Amino acid sequence: MKKLANGMYRILGEGAFEYLAKAQSLEREGKKVLHFEIGQPDFPTPQHIKESAYEAIESNFTGYVSATGILELKQAVQDEIELSRGFRPSIEQILILPGAKPGIFFTMLSLVNQGEEIIYPDPGFPTYGSVVKYIGAGDVPITLKEENEFRLNPSDIEEKITPKTKLIILNSPQNPTGSVMTKEEIEKIAEIAEENDIFVFSDEIYSKMLYESTFHTPSVRDEAKDRTVILDGFSKSYSMTGWRLGYVVGPEEIIEKMGTLMINSLSCTTSFVQKAGITALKGTQEPLREMMKAFLERRNAIVKGLNEIPNFTCLSPQGAFYAFPNITNTGMNSREIADHILYKAGVCCLPGSAFGPGGEGYLRFSYATSIANISQAVAQIKESFG
Ligand SMILES: Cc1ncc(COP(=O)(O)O)c(C=O)c1O
Repeated sequence: MKKLANGMYRILGEGAFEYLAKAQSLEREGKKVLHFEIGQPDFPTPQHIKESAYEAIESNFTGYVSATGILELKQAVQDEIELSRGFRPSIEQILILPGAKPGIFFTMLSLVNQGEEIIYPDPGFPTYGSVVKYIGAGDVPITLKEENEFRLNPSDIEEKITPKTKLIILNSPQNPTGSVMTKEEIEKIAEIAEENDIFVFSDEIYSKMLYESTFHTPSVRDEAKDRTVILDGFSKSYSMTGWRLGYVVGPEEIIEKMGTLMINSLSCTTSFVQKAGITALKGTQEPLREMMKAFLERRNAIVKGLNEIPNFTCLSPQGAFYAFPNITNTGMNSREIADHILYKAGVCCLPGSAFGPGGEGYLRFSYATSIANISQAVAQIKESFG
């Protein structure tokens, strides 16, 4: 007899943590491993952001705060959305969260009933598929095709819409492929959602991390007032993964209910971390610019290097910090190759299949590491196949 609640047998873990554990076990045996598995910038949190947290703690800003976030941070988010997306949401449209991830969970919990369907990208961020299963929603993954540079195709979405479709999840720039959707594609999907009265959840955590392409959001259509919920945060752009700070902007009714989920689960987002968030948004953006300059060089180096490995081919990702080479010509599946690379080359990356069945035949390299490590990793992988 099953002892736990049914949903607990459906919710899934994350491949990145599984491979990190494998790499750490090799390291405990004294082996050297080059790390490309975890999706976090290798830059420290900028000094001025850290200082504002120190000051907030010093001035005893350490108690409970509003469950939906402190007003000053919400005002900073209003300015940020106006600047980056071109519309100014009301304070009631904003919810501050401990990281971006709870925004995925809370949005799906707030909008989707058991049996209703969720359309989402495959390969995609593993939390989407996991929460779809947890809430017992209908699972409608859409395969991202390499010939479309891994961009979600609006007509593929249109084909999958049924009367049960409740939510479409978008993610651009995308994890794990680094793809960036065009303005036309995003607009078309927003239009399809409106025509079919479907909610759109747009995961925009990489909104500040683009190379040649520009960022677009479906939220401009309804200014996140009717059907669009956007997710953004501080983990990636400001190297704040461990601080846990993110936010959603969406229709007031949904945001209010998500605030109730906050009250019942986390009470509030850490008070002094929110002060640091204000500094991140309002302070100098120079550290972000510097980091993106470094990521561009690394992107170019890793794409060139991966394309030099026999039977690997790799597109040039347009955003985020992930490369997603095709390894089908090796004759091995993505887990076999990821294990081969870890155990024979001492390089830890992730199998594409950790991001859904659509990721089979690919690997994901997080290139948040030095050019020297990238060159070394490419050389070791080449040698391991020699
Ligand atoms: C697409 C995407 N959404 C959300 C998150 C979660 O961000 P956070 O660490 O702020 O919860 C990540 C982190 O890897 C991500 O890649």
